[in-house]
Amino acid sequence: MANPDLLIVGSGLFGLTIAERAAVEHDAKVTIIDRRDHIGGNAYSERDPETGIEIHKYGAHLFHTSNERVWEYVNRFTSFTGYVHKVYTNHEGVVYPMPINLGTINQFFSAAYTPDEARALVAEQAGELAGSDPENLNDKGISLIGRPLYEAFIKNYTGKQWQTDPKDLPASIISRLPVRYTYDNRYFNDTFEGLPTDGYTAWLERMADHPNIEVRLSTDYFDTHQGLNKDAVRGRLPVVYTGPIDRYFDYAHGDLKWRTIDLETEHLSTTGDFQGTSVMNYADAGIPFTRIIEPRHFHPERDYPTDRTVIQREFSRFAERDDEPYYPVNGTEDRETLLAYRELSAAEPRTIFGGRLGTYQYLDMHMAIGSALSVADNKLPDLLRA
Ligand code: FAD
Ligand code: NA
Repeated sequence: MANPDLLIVGSGLFGLTIAERAAVEHDAKVTIIDRRDHIGGNAYSERDPETGIEIHKYGAHLFHTSNERVWEYVNRFTSFTGYVHKVYTNHEGVVYPMPINLGTINQFFSAAYTPDEARALVAEQAGELAGSDPENLNDKGISLIGRPLYEAFIKNYTGKQWQTDPKDLPASIISRLPVRYTYDNRYFNDTFEGLPTDGYTAWLERMADHPNIEVRLSTDYFDTHQGLNKDAVRGRLPVVYTGPIDRYFDYAHGDLKWRTIDLETEHLSTTGDFQGTSVMNYADAGIPFTRIIEPRHFHPERDYPTDRTVIQREFSRFAERDDEPYYPVNGTEDRETLLAYRELSAAEPRTIFGGRLGTYQYLDMHMAIGSALSVADNKLPDLLRA
């Protein structure tokens, strides 16, 4: 598009939602740029060439929401399967259902506690630290669910996620540890859940499939060799920026900290089913990865080969500047840095900062879409008029 009315930096769900609303509701001409060579941000997936199995390139993505508006909106672009997410965890070579529920508790204590008995037991074990005000995550965990369950299922898993001993992590990382006193081990509590029937990428591409929307891939907003870059555009064209906020301001107030994950993908031709389920956590310290994903189980309805499978071991670590930023660390220092960047962004001409990188916030897909729909309602009309 030679002269777009709106430039969107980033083709993730936030950028795509703004683009679709601007094109359909405001008849605006929209150009989306993305530095990657594909659309869709972190929700992108691709077909494994050897097996045809859909692989979530940036980690397992499960769609779930209780927001009626978001559910209605996403169903304009894709239908969803009946997939219901469940997670299991391997602790000392035994597999338990997660999150911690009556099944986990009874298996762990080799018991047949009723819900009331299990509640009383957990309360008694949590009483070990009664009356204290836990400062670190370890004590907080014990005070919430008692030492035995905390040490088996939470302590080392969380330690691996943060590459830090929970004794050295702030208690504020967890506010609660949900324990279910039923056998329900459905992972999400939301009203709506499922996976896009014909895959994430088909869904994401349909959002951009409009004559007013042009997508330019492998195009970085900070690359002055291409036309629609920050120096050329700033103040002249309305922009929705969904990249990292610290990068936008040349890290003037320092780097915001993120965690990232490394995925080690392995093809197996010795079996068609490695673990019988999509996600298996590894709760113990001696195993370096946090979990194994087996993507074939996200789509049991599909006709995948039965003699081969793909697994992905997931490792968690702190991100360097060139890594993919995944989960905000959000420490005290980060919150101060973010405020400084927020002040700068409020004064930035004709630019809206959005999405998880632009606001330094962990957003599930439905939250990114919901937030973009609000921005489209409340800020887009003025931005396009200015
Ligand atoms: P992104 O998807 O990150 O999109 C931002 C885009 O901006 C990227 O494509 C990036 O390349 C582009 N960009 C950045 N800088 C520039 C630049 N300078 N120039 C051009 N383009 C640029 N959500 C769920 O609901 N369920 C899940 O199970 C789930 N699992 C997740 C697992 C992992 C490991 C991660 C990291 C996230 C998960 N999410 C999940 C969250 C989901 O990925 C986000 O909600 C979604 O990515 C938010 O979309 P976004 O548009 O804000 O950001
Ligand atoms: Na996930």
